[in-house]
This record gives sequence, structure tokens and C-alpha cells, in this order.
Amino acid sequence: MVLADVDEEALAAAAETVAALGVDVLAVPTDVSRESAVQALAAATLERFGAAHVVCNNAGVVTLADPWSGPLSAWEWVVGVNFWGVIHGVRAFLPLLVGQGEGHIVNTASIAGLLPGIGAHYDATKHAVVALTEDLYTTLGSTGLPVGASVLCPGWVRTGILDAHRNWPAHLGERPEEAFGSDIVSGHVRRAIDEGMTPASVADLVADAVEEPRFWVFPHPDFVEVAELRWRSIAEGRDPALMTDLPGLPPAEQIFTEILASLEEQ
Ligand SMILES: NC(=O)c1ccc[n+]([C@@H]2O[C@H](COP(=O)([O-])OP(=O)(O)OC[C@H]3O[C@@H](n4cnc5c(N)ncnc54)[C@H](O)[C@@H]3O)[C@@H](O)[C@H]2O)c1
Repeated sequence: MVLADVDEEALAAAAETVAALGVDVLAVPTDVSRESAVQALAAATLERFGAAHVVCNNAGVVTLADPWSGPLSAWEWVVGVNFWGVIHGVRAFLPLLVGQGEGHIVNTASIAGLLPGIGAHYDATKHAVVALTEDLYTTLGSTGLPVGASVLCPGWVRTGILDAHRNWPAHLGERPEEAFGSDIVSGHVRRAIDEGMTPASVADLVADAVEEPRFWVFPHPDFVEVAELRWRSIAEGRDPALMTDLPGLPPAEQIFTEILASLEEQ
């Protein structure tokens, strides 16, 4: 197993955990937003193991910065990791998989790739990951290449995503301020995430999808139902809803009222 992460301490700890299970592990510190780093990861994989079979482009970050009045650096960061990271991953590993005649690529998007609601930076990059993976899948299928592709679109999963700013890259300057009201929203989201699915259960679903093989990995059918409502309103040409209730959160109207109350207090 090859593990890659920009957070070297977390990477070393994960590698130790996996190695303790008796798995042969290679840990490669990697910033996925940099093409050269991901190419080096692919080269290190090939050198150590001679092949790559299942490639998971999973790194992702979220920002609480305001997309329109906040600094552009927040866009550069989120687009760099969530979007360019996946592109670099596919481009670095696809030739290996095609060359060896088998393999599978799993790109982690989010339900936010089908249903905007987390914030413009995140929603936009996750929509892009869904689209590029769908395109990859159809290209592989239409050319008869023996490589599979899946896209993972979860709802809430119990991880450290809300503290993604811990990996804010120094080269982008100062970390952006949080947008007004984001503390209220992130408080609710943090609760939902803490009560969310475990990463291990999501990983099991991914493993099933690779084995079947299946393109869509939807760990949260209740979120897909909300996405379906959105697609129906698109088909009817209706303008986007100002407030959408999401599973695991209080009604959107309540969150909106809390934000207004906090504005009045200031
Ligand atoms: N947690 C959720 O509720 C949820 C829901 C939908 C989708 N996702 C997606 O799941 C994926 C994994 O996130 P998570 O929830 O486990 O969060 P997490 O913060 O626990 O894990 C993200 C990992 O990405 C790493 N990372 C950050 N920047 C990187 C970079 N430039 N290069 C390499 N690694 C980098 C972090 O160090 C961390 O280990 C992300 O793509 C996220 O958008 C999460």
C-alpha cells in the first residue's frame, strides 16, 4: 500500500498503523496540488512495487473564507487540492494502469458535487471532480481500455475536514479570515460530521464498488434524495432555492435566522 499526504506527521502515523497490520507500506509526503510531486509519487510507487492497482485521489480541503470578498488565495488552495490534485493523480497513474492492462481509479468528490450547499469554492471543485470522472469513465469504456473508474460522493463522514485549514500552505500567504456567519454554519456541520458515517464504512463501500465494478459510490441515500429534488427543479427551469434543508442539519430557515440574529447583535 502506498500512502501519500502533505501532512507528514499524520502520514507517518497512518503508515505505522497500516504496517502494524502486516502490510508492506510506502509513505510518500506529497502535495497533490503540485504536478511534479504527484509524478514523483507515481515513480516511487512503480520503483517500490512495480505496479499500481487501485488509485484513490482522496485529498480534499474546505475553506470558510468568503468566495467573493475574501482573498483569491482561498480559491487557489481549494482548487489546487480538490481539482488539480485529482487531475494530477489521474494523469500520473492512468498510463501505468493502461500499460499493465488493469486497474481502477477512485476519485473522491462529495454529495456537494451534485448538490451545491457547502460553499462556492468547495461546491465548484466537487462538481468538477464528478464531471471529469464521468468523462474519464466514458472515455475508458468507449475505447475499451481495461481500467475502471468510480466517483465517491458522501454526505457527512466523521473526519477532520472542518479543520482542513491545519494544512493551509505557507506559500499562499496569510490564512484567510472566515466569512460572516460561517461559525454558526460550521458549528452545525461539525455536529453532523461528528455523528456522521465512519471513514471505515465508507472505505468498505468503495472497495465494493471497485470489485463490482460500479461508477457511483453513494454512502448517503438521504442526500441523493435532496440532490434529486434539485435536478427536478433544474428540469422545470426553476431558479435555485435560497435555502435547502440538508440531512443531519437543523432546518435551513433556522440556521438563516441564527445568522441574522448574530448580525443584529453586532
Ligand atoms: N468528511 C466529510 O463529511 C466529507 C464529505 C464529502 C466528501 N469528503 C471528501 O473526502 C475527502 C477526504 O477528506 P476527509 O473528510 O477525510 O478530511 P480530512 O481532513 O480528515 O482528510 C483530508 C486529508 O487530505 C490531506 N491533504 C490536505 N491537503 C493536501 C495536499 N495538498 N496534498 C496531499 N494531501 C492533502 C490532509 O492532510 C488529510 O489527511 C476529501 O476530498 C473531502 O472533500 C468529505
